[in-house]
Amino acid sequence: MQTTLPFRQAFEDYMNEHAFTAAPRELYQPINYIMNLGGKRMRPIMLLMGYSLFKDDFKQALPAAYAVEIFHNFSLVHDDMMDEAPVRRGQPTVHEKWNMSTGILSGDAMLVQAYEYLLELEDKSNLAAIIKTFNRFAIEVCEGQQYDMNFEQRNDVTIEEYLKMIELKTSVLLAGAMKIGALIAKADTQSVKHIYEFGRNVGLAFQIQDDYLDTFGDPAKFGKKVGGDIAQNKKTYLILKALEVANPEQRQQLEDLMNCKPKDEQAKIQTVMQLLENLNIPELTAQKKLAYQKTAYQHLEAIEVENARKQPIRAIAEYLLERDM
Ligand code: IPE
Ligand code: IPE
Ligand code: MG
Ligand code: MG
Ligand code: MG
Repeated sequence: MQTTLPFRQAFEDYMNEHAFTAAPRELYQPINYIMNLGGKRMRPIMLLMGYSLFKDDFKQALPAAYAVEIFHNFSLVHDDMMDEAPVRRGQPTVHEKWNMSTGILSGDAMLVQAYEYLLELEDKSNLAAIIKTFNRFAIEVCEGQQYDMNFEQRNDVTIEEYLKMIELKTSVLLAGAMKIGALIAKADTQSVKHIYEFGRNVGLAFQIQDDYLDTFGDPAKFGKKVGGDIAQNKKTYLILKALEVANPEQRQQLEDLMNCKPKDEQAKIQTVMQLLENLNIPELTAQKKLAYQKTAYQHLEAIEVENARKQPIRAIAEYLLERDM
């Protein structure tokens, strides 16, 4: 995507200049591994865009952009252990390639390193507010992850509860990243609120798209195990919406399927997929995504800066919600 190129390039350069090369290598090698598997770099790019909405010299914000990407990758290393996920970005997950202890400890070190990079910001006048924002999403991600796991064991999760869960586990990080960018640029309070709300709504749509791709994505592009959420009995938007629109017989079938972990995992995945398709869930999911996208754009419109500055942000929101990886 053309509009993100300067941000992505500057970010990748900064990352390469600050690679994790210290000893012991058993601790740092997995960190370099996960950080260099690729990934869309959406959170750092959104942080840099949050800054650029108000100011030009976005390189000022690079240490914070690195901090959020390190935090994101830390959360993925631990998430993949919790979700028993074998593949990330088309490659073995850290705990698969090494082991659980490595995943835990390298993850811990990443969380600390994220804070180290926040302290690298040159202008420290807003640092307390920046760290407060960072702390808030960091703890909220933990809360969301706990709900996500709790819901695996429950059959009565409501869509409302699901939306709260994905707000916590996913969308606050996108929102917080944009807010930190705006805080570094010393944007006014009202603008900071709107940029946060923009990120929060994009984040909700983003996780709904992630749920969609986990079931209907192209395995060659998605980079994660397609069907993984179904196998883990995750209460995704797709499943909850299906339970809502199903007839009693279909609902019973779906509940039974989402209550077990059978030996023949592929058969379960196929049956659930077919059921979701019969219930028109892909279309209903797209509608929900679109509603959040609209709300996000309203918040972007409300920010009082010239329109041209908003263009890259609009472009990234569109890309994120149409993404296939
Ligand atoms: C994966 O995030 C975790 C979710 C919140 C869905 P991304 O889809 O941004 O992962 P990468 O960094 O691009 O691999
Ligand atoms: C993402 O949830 C939330 C975090 C990683 C904090 P998922 O479990 O859906 O993310 P993926 O699909 O594994 O990337
Ligand atoms: Mg996961
Ligand atoms: Mg998860
Ligand atoms: Mg997912």
